[in-house]
Amino acid sequence: MRLDKLIEEQLHTPRKAMKRLFQTGHVLVNGKIERRGERNVDSDLHDITVQGKQLKTHESYFLLHKPKGVVTANHDDRHQTVIDCLAANDRVADLYAVGRLDRDTQGLVLLTSNGQLGYALMHPQKKVTKRYEVTVNGPLTLADRAAFETGIVFHDGTRCQPAQLMIQQSHSEESQATVLITEGKFHQIKKMFLTRGVKVIALKRTAIGPLTLTADLPVGSYRRLHQNELERLVDYFH
Ligand code: URA
Repeated sequence: MRLDKLIEEQLHTPRKAMKRLFQTGHVLVNGKIERRGERNVDSDLHDITVQGKQLKTHESYFLLHKPKGVVTANHDDRHQTVIDCLAANDRVADLYAVGRLDRDTQGLVLLTSNGQLGYALMHPQKKVTKRYEVTVNGPLTLADRAAFETGIVFHDGTRCQPAQLMIQQSHSEESQATVLITEGKFHQIKKMFLTRGVKVIALKRTAIGPLTLTADLPVGSYRRLHQNELERLVDYFH
């Protein structure tokens, strides 16, 4: 969470005094003077000390194996949402999904109350790699692989960043592949394959940056991020 918000919440510091705290070097993160109130911190990753007092954050981070049929939204009148997949006592305020999966897509979703982390993970400049397992309704070729590598151009002219297509099996009726993309355009994977003349018939996200869909996450289940997984995200805390 934002460092200035944490200080305000826990030390009830008024705005002027807050400015002074930062200006006079009384806010330390990992032992170093921090002057940016907007700095994103988590006490499971950072040692946060203000005038000698150690502060603790209480953010939530969950990994969900989203089933098909569930929408990536906080509320929906017709369909089950990713938030509905959690037990009632885990549905804390401010929780939201980082990056959207279509209703018919299965796979890894990160749910967090740390909005700044979500923003950083989704920012195009960060080029966080997302991995998908894909089944399409036709053959895949080396020409498709080359087109992904060059950068697919959608029918409306939108150009995608270079992506990696790894073909596992190719048959005239159905093929399987793994795709790595570093952005998150609307229906991106489906549209990429459509430009190559095939339709996606099954889609599953198996990784978001350093987070992967582990064997302990059967479809429909979720768990808190392990400490070592949170540590792999430390570079996205700014
Ligand atoms: N690309 C898609 O087309 N759909 C998803 O759900 C995710 C990526």
